[in-house]
Order: sequence, then C-alpha cells, then structure tokens
Amino acid sequence: MTQLVSRRGFLGGVTASGLLLAGPAFWRQPAIAATQSASQIHITFGDDAATEMHVSWSTAGSVSRPRVRLGTPGGGFGLEIPAETVTYVDYYGVETYMQHARIRGLRPASTYVYSVLSDGAAGVQGTFTTAPVGRVPFRFTSFGDIGSGNPSWSKSSINAITATNQIEQFNPVVHLLNGDLSYANVNQQSMPAVWADFANNTQPSAMNTPWMPALGNHEVEAGNGPLGYLSYQTRYRLPGNHSRSFQGNWYSYQVGSVLFVSLDNNDVVYANDGGAYFGTTNALYIRGYSGGLQEQWLERTLQQANWDPSVDWIVAYMHQPAMSSSSSGSGSDLGIRQSWFPLFYKYGVDLVLCGHDHDYERSFAVRGTDPGTYDRPTVVSFDTTEVDTSEGLVHIVLGGGGTSSHDDVYEGTDSAYGPWSPANGLISQVYTEPGAFKAVADSSEDATWSAVRDPNTTYPWGVGVFDVDPGRFAGDKTSISMTYYHTPAATIDSATGNIVNPAPIAYDSFTAVRRRRDGWGGSRMDARKASAAHA
Ligand SMILES: [Fe+2]
Repeated sequence: MTQLVSRRGFLGGVTASGLLLAGPAFWRQPAIAATQSASQIHITFGDDAATEMHVSWSTAGSVSRPRVRLGTPGGGFGLEIPAETVTYVDYYGVETYMQHARIRGLRPASTYVYSVLSDGAAGVQGTFTTAPVGRVPFRFTSFGDIGSGNPSWSKSSINAITATNQIEQFNPVVHLLNGDLSYANVNQQSMPAVWADFANNTQPSAMNTPWMPALGNHEVEAGNGPLGYLSYQTRYRLPGNHSRSFQGNWYSYQVGSVLFVSLDNNDVVYANDGGAYFGTTNALYIRGYSGGLQEQWLERTLQQANWDPSVDWIVAYMHQPAMSSSSSGSGSDLGIRQSWFPLFYKYGVDLVLCGHDHDYERSFAVRGTDPGTYDRPTVVSFDTTEVDTSEGLVHIVLGGGGTSSHDDVYEGTDSAYGPWSPANGLISQVYTEPGAFKAVADSSEDATWSAVRDPNTTYPWGVGVFDVDPGRFAGDKTSISMTYYHTPAATIDSATGNIVNPAPIAYDSFTAVRRRRDGWGGSRMDARKASAAHA
C-alpha cells in the first residue's frame, strides 16, 4: 500500500489569489512521522543535476531492502533502485538510520514519481524533476537559517513552517539552503530529534524539490565526528568533490546556464563560533581543516567554468557573510574575503549568497579591494536596479529562513537606510584575527558596499526568488532577476491549532545582467571584456 503525500494537498491553504493562508501545524508532525515507514524524506541532485537524483530518508531502525520504486506521471512504476543504509551514533548514544538511493540515467528537465519503501512497510510517494540543460528560463530560491520549525527547540520557531510553504509556493527548480539548518547544536542532548523535526518540517517541499545545503556554524556539532559534521554528512548525499573525507562539504552542479557552487565557510572564517555550545572544554573551531583543499577545488571548478561555453552564470552560496552591517548579528569576516574573493573576482562569480545574520542586506557590485582596509570590497557601480555582474559581484545576506531570532538592526544612524555616505556612518563589524569569538568582532569598517537593507525590525524572515532569463541568441544579454520577499510572523489559529502562514511581501528587487558566454570565442572573462566594449 502506498501512502500518498500530495503536494497539492499540502498547499490546501492557497487561495485564488495565490496567497497562503493556513497550513497544518507541522511541528506536531514527528509523532505522526514515527508511525510511518519512512520520514525525513528529501531529494538532492547528483553529480549531473540533469540526469542524477538522490532520494534520502530516515527509518526508525534497520529495515529490509530499502529501495526507491521509480515511475513517470501517469505511466506507473517500473524500475527499483536499492538504497544504501548509513547510520551514525550521536554524542549521547542515539543511533540514526538514513537510507540513500542514487538514481542515474534520468532524462533532463523530466518529472518522475517515486515511492520510498522497504519490505513490510508502506510506501511513501513523491515526485521530482531533473534539472534542465542549455539556455532555458528557470527559477531558484534561497535562504539560510531556517531551524526545525518546532518552537520548543532553541533557536527554532513556527516561521520555519511558513518558509517551507513559501518555497513550495514559489515552485523553484532548486532551493539553495545557505547553512544553519536545524540548529541541533544548540539543543545538545536532543540533536537527532531536532534534525528529525527539521527534516520533517521541510519534507513537504524537500521531497519534491532539491534543497541543496551549505554548511553553517550550527552544523558543527561538538562530539559528532572530528569536524562535528557527522549528522550532516550522514543525512545528505551531494555532488562529489573528489575528496574522501570531505564529501558533501563543498560541491558544484549546473542547472541550465548557471553553475552553482556551495562552499563551507567554517573552513576559512576568523570568527570562532566553536560549536561552543558544549562549553569551552569541548568546543570545535575548525578553520583551516581542509588544509587548502577546498580553495584548490574552488579554483579548479571556476577555471573549468571560465572555459565552459555552456556556463553563463556562476552563483556561489555559503553561510557566513563577507559583508554585513548588522549590529545585532555577526558582521563581516575577513577570512572569507581573503580565501574566496580573489577567486570570485578572477573568474567572474556573479552572485554570492549567504545567511548567518538573520536579516537581508544586498551589496553594490564590488570587485577588488580598497587599499589600506581589511580587504574591503571596492564598489564598481552604484546602480541598484540593473547590475552588470561581469563588472562586479553582488553579495546578498539571506538569513531569514525562519529562526526565533532576528538581526535586522543595522549599524549607523541613517534611519532611511539609503546608500552609504560618510554622514550616515553605516559601519560593519569585521573579524580580522583567527579565533575571534563570534559576536565580538575585533574591528570595524565603513560599510561603503551596502546598497539595500531590510530595516523592518519586527521580523527578519524572507526568501530570495531568482528568475533566470537565458537570452535569445548567442552573445545576447542574459539576466537573473531577484526579488526578496519578506514575511510577517506566523501565528497559530487558537480555534483550529493550525499555523496561519502570512503571505510574502515583495521588498527589494534588482536584475543582474551579463553577455551570454556563447557569443565570444574566448573564456567567460573574455566575455566580460566584450561586454565592456559593447557598453
Ligand atoms: Fe550562523
């Protein structure tokens, strides 16, 4: 017997105008999930996002012949793909069972139905769509810092339930999850339970749409593996990075004409979050753990993209920001600027998406560093509506996934939050020394790069929605239009107990533009020169 989890049923609160009004209280879901054969279901792209998909789920214990039965909409089920069982025992002795099925040989831009099952257990059905290839329009979404959705856990709130609803509403091809997923590490004695709540809350979307994660400081769980990544690495199957020990920590994949690069900033940040929630005797500060491997991989990846005629755009996403003027959050980290930004500039990365500070902040286009500063990125254009990212990258903090705390109070005195000027005094806290304890930055700078912030201090939540327009012909202009939607706080209907999901509100938008890579004979950076000549 197959239990249907209907995507449309999940969206039962969608009105004629498309607004989400109410959905079930999913933070109550773990009790339900425990009676199911499979829970915490999520899908992730494989090495080739157009032809490979991983289906992953958790079971309460060992199961016989875990597998995925694959089919097509309206065509029934055929192929069965066996799943690999991976377990880990967390610091407090709780064992987690994950099942991972790697499905290959799929057709690009194609929708499949699947059923997750094992012997003697009811199946659970989902759908997925593989990535498109070539220059086609598509949508992706992004935020970090979501939490479990269960408000009884530290750092979590019911707004994570709204966040899941909204990703489904915007219906992206892929959702970029910019680190700080469950916040299990601030609920030390209940880490597997917190992860379960996170994965069950996101399941209604993540079982149908790839939520592709980056590692945040809250994925570092002291006591769970040498880097604290045991939970993360056991729960996710992600595109390869040619390393054995650091599989899934950083990776890339291509969707249409966009290369997405997920980076682990814990490897390079100066700020010491330390996974310190076990106390200083058991803290983990893991800066430098890859010994430069991640940086080498990044350069190789960007070098290849530079010469790949199918890549127009490079979108890097990661957790801690290189630029943030939040006063209640963490601020900027020089380690990121030193490690990644020279490569971002060299190979023309267009967008850099982050989380960590629970707010929204967008930079001007930046390229190079201001002399005599902490590698402060140099503003190359003050245009905030149409930005030629072949001239400079745009860095965006999207840390409003759904946590219980907000950081949307910014340094400086400019109540209008307009473009920076010496008069308004907008500054950024900057970490410039290895091991600087988080939230106690050792330096500061004028935040000349800050273009747009969301100063609504009553709520930090929201999502970035990005629409790719591939252009029409070789060498044509291509664009990525972004709208940031912020979201009022979710509430609970006292009569029904249901979550009342507020509608997202468009707050900020801009369009990134560049020339298509296929119009020029040389590399992607040659296209930049051609774009400048064309202007
Ligand atoms: Fe964080």
